[in-house]
Amino acid sequence: MAGGAAVLPEHGQLRNHGNDGNDGNDGNDGNDGNDGNHRNHDNERNHSNHRNHDNDRNHSNHRNQEPTGPDGTTRESTDMADDGFISLDGVEKVFEVRRRAGLLRRERHEVRAVDGISFRVARGEMVGYIGPNGAGKSTTIKMLTGILTPSGGRLRVAGIDPSRERTRLAHRIGVVFGQRTTLWWDLPLRDSYRLMHRMYRIPERRYRENLDRCVELLDLEKLLEVPVRQLSLGQRMRGDIAAALLHDPEVLYLDEPTIGLDVVSKAKVRRFLKELNAERGTTVLLTTHDLTDIEQLCGRVMVIDHGRLMYDGSLTGLHEVGESERMLVVDLESELPPIRLESADGGGQPAVRAVKVEGPRQWLAFPAAASAAPLVARIAADYPLVDLSVREPDIEAVIARMYESTP
Ligand SMILES: Nc1ncnc2c1ncn2[C@@H]1O[C@H](COP(=O)(O)OP(=O)(O)O)[C@@H](O)[C@H]1O
Ligand SMILES: [Mg+2]
Repeated sequence: MAGGAAVLPEHGQLRNHGNDGNDGNDGNDGNDGNDGNHRNHDNERNHSNHRNHDNDRNHSNHRNQEPTGPDGTTRESTDMADDGFISLDGVEKVFEVRRRAGLLRRERHEVRAVDGISFRVARGEMVGYIGPNGAGKSTTIKMLTGILTPSGGRLRVAGIDPSRERTRLAHRIGVVFGQRTTLWWDLPLRDSYRLMHRMYRIPERRYRENLDRCVELLDLEKLLEVPVRQLSLGQRMRGDIAAALLHDPEVLYLDEPTIGLDVVSKAKVRRFLKELNAERGTTVLLTTHDLTDIEQLCGRVMVIDHGRLMYDGSLTGLHEVGESERMLVVDLESELPPIRLESADGGGQPAVRAVKVEGPRQWLAFPAAASAAPLVARIAADYPLVDLSVREPDIEAVIARMYESTP
């Protein structure tokens, strides 16, 4: 379940929609089977199976390295202020799982979901936390809320040890898990908010102001009387984000808040988060699969894979390390031969690479770290351009390239 409420222990008892029975329970929490979102299960499961085979060999190369910085140097965990608002030092989470190994026998084995992670996040920062499925992102966030207790290492949020003082921390943080909801399924949105108002003992005026602001900026006015189960995914997500903010948290954790959302909802959510961060200085840690979220919101991105931090730096730097390409998809007035643009520096290398032509539509790859604007301007000047869009590379591809490019 989601929302700041996810971290208030008593919340579980109030709820009744059945998806969350295991929250707060180390043994079962995070188990995909209880997530209540069937769309994503198969993907996650298949994916994590593959990952462990394909990447094991490469992975071992990285096990003992510090994450790579944008310039290829390693980043010492000591190079930031020691009093980061969020601080992790060698944090680990090991799950013990039992597998059937024959008729009666069950084998125990360990899953190192988070395998020694250290980082600092300063107050007011907006940081992206990305990585493939099964990388350990949600586990990290659950430890940061106190839902899960780390198996090792040291973790502090606003000076609080989350798993020891979960309720105290709950008043200072908000959480949104994109694949669950904190809202009461059968109640209108407004009633869920009222319950949170009481649970968090939010002063009346504060509550009013925060609710009004969220309703306005997240466009919830028409939805307040609608039972949550009747909301679309995008509407529900906006409702969940509002729920996580009614008590004015200083930190907001968002775990895949844009997953499955349509373009319009994504844009609304992004605009809202940007304003929240700018106006209130809310610290935001954002897990996402969509690099556009990061591009538009986060000055800093951390990449996690196999429970380890692989990269900590700017998105541009990540593209450089991963040598990734972005894609310009252009629609021309008519079918034309593949577009060719000489590079601006005259070095002979084309500035874009036509990778696919389908009637009047062309796909043009260019280095992800390069700026798209001058390319678009040149194309618009020389070709009959009707429409265009820029596609970000997917995270899996960037990370795969990182492995290839690191010796
Ligand atoms: N409660 C749990 N019990 C056993 N294994 C778990 C549990 N929660 C997560 N895992 C495993 O830990 C790893 C990291 O999971 P998770 O943090 O959910 O990854 P992500 O959010 O990056 O997709 C995965 O291999 C996952 O199967
Ligand atoms: Mg996850």
